[in-house]
Amino acid sequence: MKAAYIEATGPAESTIKFGDLPKPSPTGTQVLVKVGAVSVNPIDTYLRNGANYWPLPKPFIIGCDLAGTVEAVGPDVRRFKVGDRVWGSNQGLLGRQGTFAEYCAPEEQWLYPTPAPVTDEQSAACALVGITAHLGLFREIQLQAGETVFVNGGSGGVGSLVVQMAKAAGARVLATAGSAEKVAALKQLGADAAVNYKTDDIAAAVKSLAPAGVNVYWETVREPDFEKIVSYLAERGRMILMAGRDARPVFPVGPFYVKGCSLRGFVMFKATPGEQRAAADDINRWLSSGKLKANISRVLPLNQAAAAHQLQEENTLQKAGTLAGKIVLKP
Ligand SMILES: NC(=O)c1ccc[n+]([C@@H]2O[C@H](COP(=O)([O-])OP(=O)(O)OC[C@H]3O[C@@H](n4cnc5c(N)ncnc54)[C@H](OP(=O)(O)O)[C@@H]3O)[C@@H](O)[C@H]2O)c1
Repeated sequence: MKAAYIEATGPAESTIKFGDLPKPSPTGTQVLVKVGAVSVNPIDTYLRNGANYWPLPKPFIIGCDLAGTVEAVGPDVRRFKVGDRVWGSNQGLLGRQGTFAEYCAPEEQWLYPTPAPVTDEQSAACALVGITAHLGLFREIQLQAGETVFVNGGSGGVGSLVVQMAKAAGARVLATAGSAEKVAALKQLGADAAVNYKTDDIAAAVKSLAPAGVNVYWETVREPDFEKIVSYLAERGRMILMAGRDARPVFPVGPFYVKGCSLRGFVMFKATPGEQRAAADDINRWLSSGKLKANISRVLPLNQAAAAHQLQEENTLQKAGTLAGKIVLKP
């Protein structure tokens, strides 16, 4: 089968190869998926450039997310049969092989049925980022209808789904983005208020939407400014951190505890199969009903995997701002 893979970590253009690797044969509880679409995530950059902290299989097929059609099942598979459409994430992580290939054989516990009206591109684009958004809002923060949520980086892969899921749960949402077009797109996604983090007065926007402060603050950037964030939070405000492995910012202890605030951090790939499936069930429901829309910026052929990685890296590490959503690739 054709696959995009690396044999050593390093720059995208020189390490990502596109060529033939053996097609997997599903054993035990593995499901062989004929891949219809995959998507790129910032963590793909860290896995490929060597910043990550677990050993990779050799060769390592890049990519975490996939959607496609079941071609064969291992003898112990219970939830899927040949011909079913499925999507999933959590591949390429913790030493597992990745998804950027014509075929992939995940354990069935990391796969979910794709509802009929949803395309492979849409479900692949919502996979890792959707599960992340859901875990943060519902497992970690227990978002309630009527609460106010601030999403810093609402235009990104995770942020655009946090915005939509918070709206689906009945919250009011204020989100930031880095250009006038992306601010307009945030309103299309349902944000009650959207501001440009480069040019607008964020404190004034918070005061206008939530005079007593926001109940939830979701940070997607790797260098949080806690001084500002704590000033935006309401009494008993809750905050989510999920990016910035190397970040060591100053923290305003006094204002934080006096307001009774709390702070949660998590990584999606440590969530249990049951937790991830609960997120996937809601994602499927909301994608089917139109409450959730995949935010796709580019669709490329799989043989463009190196260019796709380069583009993601420029946005994740150099903050180029040239992406307005997910990069999806198709074998
Ligand atoms: N913990 C987990 O399980 C988990 C899961 C998924 C992702 N992550 C991490 O979360 C981060 C975001 O992931 P993603 O997929 O959403 O990335 P992404 O699609 O590249 O989005 C990045 C977002 O950050 C915004 N941004 C950049 N600089 C900003 C600034 N100074 N102030 C406010 N916003 C700014 C961008 O806005 P513009 O494009 O509008 O400029 C964009 O909305 C990454 O570091 C990723 O590794 C963690």
